[in-house]
Amino acid sequence: MSDIKTIGVLTSGGDAPGMNAAIRAVVRTGIHHGFKVMGIRKGYNGLINGDITEMTLRSVSDIVHRGGTVLQTARCLSFKTEEGILRGISMAKVFGIDALVVIGGDGSYRGAKELAKHGLPVMGIPGTIDNDIGCSEYTVGYDTALNTAQDALDKIRDTAYSHERCSVLEVMGRHAGYIALNVGIACGAESIILPEKSFEIDKDIIKPIIEGRNRGKKHYIVIIAEGVGGAIEVAKEIETKTGIEARATILGHIQRGGSPTVYDRVMASMMGAKAVELLKNNVFNRVIALKDNKVVDLDIVEALEMKKEIDNDIIELSKILSL
Ligand code: ADP
Ligand code: F6P
Repeated sequence: MSDIKTIGVLTSGGDAPGMNAAIRAVVRTGIHHGFKVMGIRKGYNGLINGDITEMTLRSVSDIVHRGGTVLQTARCLSFKTEEGILRGISMAKVFGIDALVVIGGDGSYRGAKELAKHGLPVMGIPGTIDNDIGCSEYTVGYDTALNTAQDALDKIRDTAYSHERCSVLEVMGRHAGYIALNVGIACGAESIILPEKSFEIDKDIIKPIIEGRNRGKKHYIVIIAEGVGGAIEVAKEIETKTGIEARATILGHIQRGGSPTVYDRVMASMMGAKAVELLKNNVFNRVIALKDNKVVDLDIVEALEMKKEIDNDIIELSKILSL
């Protein structure tokens, strides 16, 4: 039996498709197990400011298919201070919140870890399009973002083919290249430039284009992760150094929105349910993760120390596949 009677739920950091499915799962499984569930709006800002209301079964109707987050999200700088955390703790007391479910990225987890240190039980659910949480093979929103970027790149390829051009596409990922790498493979990019790996324009972009041309290629795709940036400048340099016309597209926030894929809805639902099940068993200060394709839970402090690496074999494979 759990000592926890009331659960708070919030979304924090960058939004991600599938966050709504996670909120819905927390609310519905929570109520099913006899918890009262409180929705906190705009991330940790809502916790600090008391922007909190009770959720019912009907508060989460018609949201499973919607992108964004009905609770909205925010970046809350004051939560990085001791004063902010203590205010969060006292607001949780005012609203009778015994445990908090945080849906977000590793920054949001760090906020949750601070709350746990001050005695508020927490649970983390991985939600970010970047798939960059060290402890989890998967983060909710990643599959939808990949599909959005793939759809855009397939369209860009059509026009690159018609005009025999080089298209340079910048995709999201300030610190992580998972979107860039996997969309690059799925869409047959000649060069994929990631924030995790240093690169030289001549060796990693110009040379593959010239070699491709010598093998008979007529159009080319270069993918650059946002963390590396400079798509417009790279396109200009390609034109100057190869004589091939080049165009740059910065895909931006289109990758953060849209109706979540089946995979994101199912993952979010399973992860939300798992978080509530653990709270029901009085287990907390954990984060939900995907490991060996199973939904598991890990200690939040240990989880935040874990790192995951981009797989070099996949990078090498992408080069062979684009020969
Ligand atoms: P994400 O959760 O997607 O990684 P951010 O890194 O922007 O996004 O973090 C989201 C929010 O989490 C921040 O705006 C802040 O409120 C909170 N946060 C991040 N790092 C910390 C920290 N070290 N201590 C307390 N709160 C933090
Ligand atoms: O959610 C992750 C992410 O999309 C990063 O890839 C990107 O750098 C960042 O969020 C941009 O966030 P915003 O424009 O909301 O500050």
